[in-house]
Amino acid sequence: MSSLKEQLQQHEAAIQALEITSAKALEEYRIQYLGTKGIVKMIFGEMKNVPVTEKKEAGQLLNAFKQMAEAKYAAHEHLKDAGNDSSPREDLSLPGDALPLGTRHPLRKVENEIVSIFEKIGFSVATGPEIEDDWHNFTSLNMPENHTARDMQDTFYVSRNPDYVLRTHTSSVQARVMEKGQLPVRVICPGRVYRNETISARAHCFFHQCEGLYIDKNVSFADLKQTLYYFVKEMFGEDVRVRFRPSYFPFTEPSAEMDISCTVCGGSGCSLCKHTGWVEILGCGMVHPNMLRNFNIDPDVYTGFAFGMGVERITQIKYQVNDLRLYSQNDVRFLRQFQSL
Ligand code: PHE
Repeated sequence: MSSLKEQLQQHEAAIQALEITSAKALEEYRIQYLGTKGIVKMIFGEMKNVPVTEKKEAGQLLNAFKQMAEAKYAAHEHLKDAGNDSSPREDLSLPGDALPLGTRHPLRKVENEIVSIFEKIGFSVATGPEIEDDWHNFTSLNMPENHTARDMQDTFYVSRNPDYVLRTHTSSVQARVMEKGQLPVRVICPGRVYRNETISARAHCFFHQCEGLYIDKNVSFADLKQTLYYFVKEMFGEDVRVRFRPSYFPFTEPSAEMDISCTVCGGSGCSLCKHTGWVEILGCGMVHPNMLRNFNIDPDVYTGFAFGMGVERITQIKYQVNDLRLYSQNDVRFLRQFQSL
């Protein structure tokens, strides 16, 4: 027993004195002490020679020794990762790791699509500020002060006298384009707009629009209809049908709202079309002569049409998103679904 004890003490001293500074030395240590033919195994083999009365104590000593030897190894294990100079651990011929791909926001995808459909027929993009003065958001668009139509849009005021608002529609950009006085005009105005509405599945205090404006000589309502019919066929497919309902907007006369046949049920009735077979997608009309005059455009020479649609609405129809709040919650589980689209 005493010889076993001595042996263990010697080994322990040797182990403690050992300085392991490389992966190679660590491996040598492992083989020498912990390997299948190593010292720990060897000493355990000697247990059979220990007299029965001493076995218990010997067993405890051996276990303690083994734990100490293993702890020394574990304490230097990090060296293994530090690399071994003699052989490169990286296989440089392996293909690289795939980087996780981000995804465009569904609203941006749909906005891009709307814009490119109109670009194909000669429209160009115009943008403007989100904080807008009263003239561009209201007055120039045939909505003078106290005009009841201002109530149609619940406005966020940034300041009063002079009035600055968060634009309630991108028609303000159309006003800015007309103001430049270059004719003809053929623009599409995508952008974020704001209205003071309680946030719910169906309404939000901000959303996105794409509005269009076309002013030239001899522009008629037939041009308006054909242009918008072309748009929905490109967006929703050849089979889509359209209908126009009379409506009212202060800046257009006559005004209409355009519906398309329901793309989900094909007209037989579902929750998207509220069982009517039709879904409303945009407002439109012939530019009001007052508005042309506001920008020194002669309504006897020039006519034009305008339209405005909500990007959220188009996205909802295209992808059946049924809660507006999803668009701004940045939940990756929602956003990832648009990854490959
Ligand atoms: N500006 C209108 C709105 O935000 C939409 C519209 C644009 C209607 C152009 C007609 C013509 O509701």
